[in-house]
Amino acid sequence: MERTFLMVKPDGVQRGLIGRIVSRFEDKGFKLVSGKLVLATEEQAKRHYAEHEGKSFFGELVDFITSGPVFAMVWEGDDVIALSRLVIGKTKVTEALPGTIRGDFAAHTPFNLIHGSDSPESAEREIANFFEQDELLGYQKTI
Ligand code: CMP
Repeated sequence: MERTFLMVKPDGVQRGLIGRIVSRFEDKGFKLVSGKLVLATEEQAKRHYAEHEGKSFFGELVDFITSGPVFAMVWEGDDVIALSRLVIGKTKVTEALPGTIRGDFAAHTPFNLIHGSDSPESAEREIANFFEQDELLGYQKTI
């Protein structure tokens, strides 16, 4: 069973899209393991986007992510990392297909509503950046 870190960005929170975004992953059959509204610190945002440090948009990206609350989540399921990125859609909104979250709701590239981990290593690092281990809840039984 795999886990991933998903985060509704400030644009998605302010547009009132948390519920509809969460529904997409519930509909797909994934399990929500944790979720909380967080005002990310500058340090947390820089750690989260460390791979983009040095790129022209890094400062703008950190400012954007810290501009308001984000809804940080951990989800689990088989192949949840790759499958959730398909549900999310491409980073560039001009390439995000209808039926994906970004394809259906996002119109400007930096403001693409949601982040999803791209590998097991990123997922582990990103989860640890936003959650304590005891905040991750397991499922004893399948209902
Ligand atoms: P995300 O999937 O969170 O990963 C990195 C983020 O950087 C991306 O979504 C966008 O929000 C942002 N991003 C990527 N490319 C650009 C760009 N060219 N200009 C501004 N922001 C970008």
